[in-house]
Amino acid sequence: MLSVDSSLDPLLKRPFSIYRWLGPDFQILYRIVGKGTDILSRRKPDDILEVIGPLGKGFPVPKSTDKIILVAGGLGIAPLFSLAEKLKKIKPLLFYGARTKEELLCIDELKSLGIEPVIATDDGTLGYKGVITDIFKKFLTQNSKLKTQNYLYACGPEPMLKALTLLAKEHGLKGSMALEQNMACGLGTCLGCVVNTKDGYKRVCKEGPVFKIEDIVWENRSFQKKS
Ligand SMILES: Cc1cc2nc3c(=O)[nH]c(=O)nc-3n(C[C@H](O)[C@H](O)[C@H](O)COP(=O)(O)OP(=O)(O)OC[C@H]3O[C@@H](n4cnc5c(N)ncnc54)[C@H](O)[C@@H]3O)c2cc1C
Ligand code: FES
Repeated sequence: MLSVDSSLDPLLKRPFSIYRWLGPDFQILYRIVGKGTDILSRRKPDDILEVIGPLGKGFPVPKSTDKIILVAGGLGIAPLFSLAEKLKKIKPLLFYGARTKEELLCIDELKSLGIEPVIATDDGTLGYKGVITDIFKKFLTQNSKLKTQNYLYACGPEPMLKALTLLAKEHGLKGSMALEQNMACGLGTCLGCVVNTKDGYKRVCKEGPVFKIEDIVWENRSFQKKS
C-alpha cells in the first residue's frame, strides 16, 4: 500500500504488486488510470513515499513435480514476473496478453530469464490476434495428457480470470490467482475488499490477493473511484 503523495490528498494509499526485489529495494510497474497513479507518475527521484508492505498472501510454492504455467493479462505481469524469476530454473511456460504491442512489458527481461512468452494482443500487433485465454485453451486441448501435472498461476483483468476459472474447471487444472479489489486500509480492518469464496467472504488484502482457483466464487462487481 503506497502513498502517492505526502499530503492528505489523496487520503488512501493505493495497492500495487511487487514487480521486482532488488536487494532492500523493490520496483513496481503501474499504469496511470486515475488521480492517484497520475500523482505517482509525477514523483521525482529522491521523493519519499510512505509504504506499508509486503501485505497479504503470495503465490504458493509449487511442487517439484508440477509443470508450471503462468498466465498474465496486462499489468498482471507485475507479480508474475517475480514468480517467473524465482522459478526460472524450471522454465515455466508463460502466456501473456495485452491490448496492443506497446502494452506488453518486460519482454526483454523475461527473455533474459530464458522465458519465451506465448503472446496475444487484442489488435494483433504482436503474437496471436485475440485474447490470451483463446490461445491458452488451444494449448490445453492439444496437451491434454499433461494437464493433470500442470499448475497454473494467473493475474490479470477479471474477465480473463473468470475465463481461466472455467478452463481450469473444464480441464481439471489446479492453480492460484491474484485478485484485484478496491482497497481502503489494506490491513484487513475495513472489510472493503472482500470477495466470495466457497468458504465465505475473504479479504483480498489479508487472506489474498492470491486464492486457489477452485475456491473463488465469482460475483459481478465494479471498481469505484477512491478518495
Ligand atoms: C492487490 C492489488 C495489486 C495491484 N497491483 C497493481 C500493479 O502492480 N500495477 C498497477 O498499475 N495497478 C495495480 N493495481 C491496481 C491499482 O491499485 C489501481 O490502478 C490504483 O489504485 C488506481 O488508483 P488511482 O487513484 O489512479 O485511480 P482511481 O481514481 O481510484 O480510479 C480510476 C479508475 O480506475 C479504476 N480502477 C481502480 N482500481 C482498479 C483496479 N484494481 N482494477 C481495475 N480498475 C481499477 C476505477 O474504477 C476508475 O475507473 C493493483 C490492485 C490490487 C488490489
Ligand atoms: S482493504 Fe480494508 S480490509 Fe482489505
